[in-house]
Amino acid sequence: MREFNLEKILKTVSSKNPFPEEANSFKFLDIEIGAGTGMFALDYSLKNKNRALISVEKTSVKFLKFKNAFKKERRENLFPVHDNGISWSAHHLKKQSVDRFFFLYPNPNPKPGDLNKRFYAMPFMGFVISRLKDSGEIFFATNELFYRDEAITFMTKEWGLRLNHNIIIKKSDNPITLFEKKYLERGQPCYHFSFIK
Ligand SMILES: C[S@@+](CC[C@H](N)C(=O)[O-])C[C@H]1O[C@@H](n2cnc3c(N)ncnc32)[C@H](O)[C@@H]1O
Repeated sequence: MREFNLEKILKTVSSKNPFPEEANSFKFLDIEIGAGTGMFALDYSLKNKNRALISVEKTSVKFLKFKNAFKKERRENLFPVHDNGISWSAHHLKKQSVDRFFFLYPNPNPKPGDLNKRFYAMPFMGFVISRLKDSGEIFFATNELFYRDEAITFMTKEWGLRLNHNIIIKKSDNPITLFEKKYLERGQPCYHFSFIK
């Protein structure tokens, strides 16, 4: 696997958004990449008031919905960021500073030629792992069995992490994201799995 070219990103892509300094007052720092309209972020931050969650979403329309819901519900520990999660993380995340990363229903990019667009197969994942505390955990969710299986192979064999959780979510379970809600309503199983160092 190629190394993540941090220097190049820092030189060629400027950061639109700063790191929200208030997040530093929490003992735990969690990062969600691809927050969509923020269903998970709003619920998780309500249930985990002692943890800061920075939720990054790059698509303007989705982020606007997230921002509007956030304005109504306000959370002290949630920090929505409208940005590309890769370049924003490159600019702001310090080594061994993150407790949990969430990649929930990332676009699976199923075409064989698009492997390099799946997060676990990107050099960026090496950077994510370098930012994770030794006690930290990386969470994924998907409705695609091929994605789960391939992610497990990459995360354990390529990146040397250990599989910690691996569960199947069914229609009778409460959905944690809007995409999960849609898949469960269609009767599709969903997969939650996570990795530790
Ligand atoms: C399939 S949607 C899932 C949204 C949400 N997590 C859910 O489960 O309802 C994937 C989301 O990831 C966002 N996304 C993809 N790549 C991203 C990146 N590099 N940085 C930030 N957001 C990204 C997309 O804009 C999209 O909103």
